[in-house]
Amino acid sequence: MAKITAGVTTSHVPAIGAALDNGKANEEYWKPVFAGYDYSKKWIAEQKPDVIILVYNDHASAFSLDLIPTFALGCGEKYKPADEGWGPRPVPDVYSHQELASHIAQSVITDDFDLTVVNTMDVDHGLTVPLSLMFGQTDAWPCKVIPLAVNVVLYPPPSGQRCYDLGKALRRAVESFDEDLNVQIWGTGGMSHQLQGPRAGLINKEFDNNFLDKIVSDPEALAKVPHINYVREAGSEGVELVMWLIMRGALNDKVTQKHRFYHVPASNTAVGHLILENK
Ligand code: DHB
Ligand code: FE
Repeated sequence: MAKITAGVTTSHVPAIGAALDNGKANEEYWKPVFAGYDYSKKWIAEQKPDVIILVYNDHASAFSLDLIPTFALGCGEKYKPADEGWGPRPVPDVYSHQELASHIAQSVITDDFDLTVVNTMDVDHGLTVPLSLMFGQTDAWPCKVIPLAVNVVLYPPPSGQRCYDLGKALRRAVESFDEDLNVQIWGTGGMSHQLQGPRAGLINKEFDNNFLDKIVSDPEALAKVPHINYVREAGSEGVELVMWLIMRGALNDKVTQKHRFYHVPASNTAVGHLILENK
């Protein structure tokens, strides 16, 4: 049977992708950011996941104000990189495990979560930057990736509790798939940042570090935190953090923390990164 073995969380700052793509990773500003992923690259090379369920948010690259699904599961065969700002990154196309994606759609939807099935879409920095941070620069991503896009750009995003419960449904889906697969779940985005308005540039280290503690030790309590707390304390884009709760819901109650990294700033954002293994 397929099994979720580990979870990864990481910020997805687009400037990180641009730094890598434009040969700036060794500049003084960027060195400490990438150093936080040295362990992670070794860890994932040993783990060799077959499939990653990658929870991320689209930033008006695949979806626009015309149509924004709350939870969109990619069920297509492959996805091309796209982006606003710096434009599409020169990174490989992303290939899916279509049978598992279809099984997840069937299992999760019949488990009362109304996912939107998306067969054709492009994927932006929300998905490609985490892949680059974990796998580095490569001609082909070493495993299959199933994208799960969550709306955190247009009010109202899904609640933390809904995200946490969706994680649990994803786990039931994966564990009922009849093929031996090593599956990881990644929750991306965050940590504190605000890109607009009078509070642009907001960072809240105390909030972020408490979130890093609680997502490991007490996710049930974290799931009850309302949106307004994220927006007030972690900034308007800090609400991306609800996606980490989908990752956490898909893991065991007790997990082993293999790695924790926090760095301020990368562009306008506090970078946070965790690796959690199922006990
Ligand atoms: C930045 C961070 C984001 O998460 C994003 O989507 C866009 C920009 C930033 O820090 O610049
Ligand atoms: Fe973002």
